[in-house]
Amino acid sequence: MSKRKAPQESLNEGITDFLVELANYEKNVNRAIHKYNAYRKAASTIAKYPNKIKSGEEAKKLLKKITNFLQLFTILQDGVGAKIAEKIDEFLQTGKLRKLEKIRNDDTSSSINFLTRVTGIGPAAARKFFEEGVKTLDDLKKVEHKLNHHQKIGLKYFEEFEKRIPRAEMEKMETLILGELTEIDTEYIGTICGSYRRGAASSGDIDILLTHPKYTSQTEKQPKLLHAVVEHLESVGFVTDTLSKGDTKFMGVCQLQPSDDDEEEYLHRRIDIRLIPKDQYYCGVLYFTGSDIFNKNMRTHALEKGFTLNEYTIRPLGVTGVAGEPLLVDSEKDIFDYIQYKYREPKDRSE
Ligand code: TTP
Ligand code: MG
Repeated sequence: MSKRKAPQESLNEGITDFLVELANYEKNVNRAIHKYNAYRKAASTIAKYPNKIKSGEEAKKLLKKITNFLQLFTILQDGVGAKIAEKIDEFLQTGKLRKLEKIRNDDTSSSINFLTRVTGIGPAAARKFFEEGVKTLDDLKKVEHKLNHHQKIGLKYFEEFEKRIPRAEMEKMETLILGELTEIDTEYIGTICGSYRRGAASSGDIDILLTHPKYTSQTEKQPKLLHAVVEHLESVGFVTDTLSKGDTKFMGVCQLQPSDDDEEEYLHRRIDIRLIPKDQYYCGVLYFTGSDIFNKNMRTHALEKGFTLNEYTIRPLGVTGVAGEPLLVDSEKDIFDYIQYKYREPKDRSE
């Protein structure tokens, strides 16, 4: 999971920027995930709107029109719909937002927000550090002994992880990784998911999904299939650090080695590799391609059609609401078909 999302360019950038800032505040400081989702949803809806918004009322109508019933319910439940409209009015009239000014000037909020930018430090750890008087990068360096391994690596590469990865570099890494996979075993199937698969100009991290025909949800766990890949990528000097390594998920750091025509060194990047049973692979690919907002919308649509969809399976819901056996899935398209959702190419899955 990457921490820094690409800014959303639109005619209404001022509005979408402040909505994203409020979203992060709700997630990191208040741990209010519904409000976070509502602000993100509003920001992405407004980013798509082809006209310059002139009033909060106009934005409210737009949000109502586009969000479906279930999402609207979430938004109304938190009272965010009307409040977002008010904030947009205030922003359009005064060019700023008092709530944000306050948050930015508030020591607690700004410190906690800052600390969560370090990988391995979530909202809860950030608050704990803050309460112990740890607020800045320098403070963190002074209490390094209190950090766990993941957080230490997060601190070590803090500046590098803040930088997004240009698409050209993502392409180089994809070629390298998929090439190395066939070196180990030609039967591996790998997909670089995340924003890269959606065609993004830059990505926050590398999200790789891996499977092998010999590994399904009916067979034993096969951690070796994952570890062989990680060890191989270490041996060629691509994977440089490990944040965590389990049976099915590796979280770590990688770096491209410069070739002769490269002028500068490449930065260290965050990489996650997940090993997924073959029969669950396409639900995984769909989920990890995102975007998170697209996933929410698709899951909602699935529910309306009587299916429950998650990162592993799609299952029909019986009349009592109990999920049945997983349906057979052999491509992403199969999932769209089951729920009668028009197929969308990855590049069209921003929401
Ligand atoms: P991320 O790497 O966090 O997102 P991203 O690749 O879309 O963007 P970035 O360029 O900033 O890395 O997560 C990968 C995918 O996993 C995301 O596109 C959708 C899915 N996902 C969710 O559906 N919900 C979540 O809460 C998270 C963290 C991810
Ligand atoms: Mg990503």
